[in-house]
Amino acid sequence: MQVTVPFSPEQASTYSGEVDALYGFLWALTIFFGVVLSLAILYFAVKFRRRHEDEIPRGVEGSIRLEVVWTVIPFIVSMGIFLWGANIYYRMYRPPAEALDIYVVAKQWMWKFQHLDGHREINELHIPVGRKVRLMMTTEDVIHSFFVPAFRVKMDVVPGKYSTVWFEATKPGRYHLFCAEYCGTSHSGMIGWIDVMEAPEYQDWLSGGASGGSLASSGEKLFQQLACNTCHKSDGTGRGPALEGVFGKTVKLQDGGTVTADEAYVRESILNPRAKVVAGYQPIMPTFQGQVTEEQLLELAAYIKSLSARPGSEGSADAAMPAGSLKPAQAPPASASRQ
Ligand code: CUA
Repeated sequence: MQVTVPFSPEQASTYSGEVDALYGFLWALTIFFGVVLSLAILYFAVKFRRRHEDEIPRGVEGSIRLEVVWTVIPFIVSMGIFLWGANIYYRMYRPPAEALDIYVVAKQWMWKFQHLDGHREINELHIPVGRKVRLMMTTEDVIHSFFVPAFRVKMDVVPGKYSTVWFEATKPGRYHLFCAEYCGTSHSGMIGWIDVMEAPEYQDWLSGGASGGSLASSGEKLFQQLACNTCHKSDGTGRGPALEGVFGKTVKLQDGGTVTADEAYVRESILNPRAKVVAGYQPIMPTFQGQVTEEQLLELAAYIKSLSARPGSEGSADAAMPAGSLKPAQAPPASASRQ
């Protein structure tokens, strides 16, 4: 639904119209009741004004019917707003599986973007039009907030965790990106641009410039540098669990619980290995806190994710992800072998 609220920024994502429609409705409702109540106050003030000094007003009895009306109508209206908002919210905060992943690290005072193919950008993000994009965001220092008014998207970026947000741009163009959480002296300078490009232009952009290897391949190098591969052997004989085919699956833990192996679990397991130990393994992994940056954690996560990538399930930009050289000796059941 396309509803334009006056003074609102340009509409450039699939959400924009919906958010504006809801916002426009709140506006209209506020104006409607503001006018009706003001007029009623004026009318009653005149009609029931005191006409002489010793006038005593008639006693007023309550009216059940009136009270029911002014309770039920606002209840229906406010529940309608709630359901309408919740519907948009749920879709906004559940990224679709087929979305193009882009990793974001915020720091005082810049936005750093990493594409799966290894392209890095600062304060500028290139994305294709008409494609769902999921941002996986974290920060190296304080809380920031990723805000693109034209997309009607705003999400806090919080230290120590990943926040995700997704959107689909509908119009090529250049849109403002803001930090919307006061984060220190140059908070107001923590701004940038989202460049929405037509698919062919985006492909051109992707193929230009040295990318220095995909995110997953940087992660793979790091995996070997940090000697993770000495314990996480692909044939499952290591002191740590094999990581092939694990990403996106449910993992059984030592304490009987389970966890979904996503970016957040990978991150936690690297920084705080004893928090959620995989069933059947000893809590012997040392922490890598202080040895890896947030960007490197994302590279490691991208690498571990690539070990579970299914062929054909990823989009064109992700196709640049190379097959890891740590090939599974025995193909894990859920992960088809990659060529
Ligand atoms: Cu970052 Cu304000």
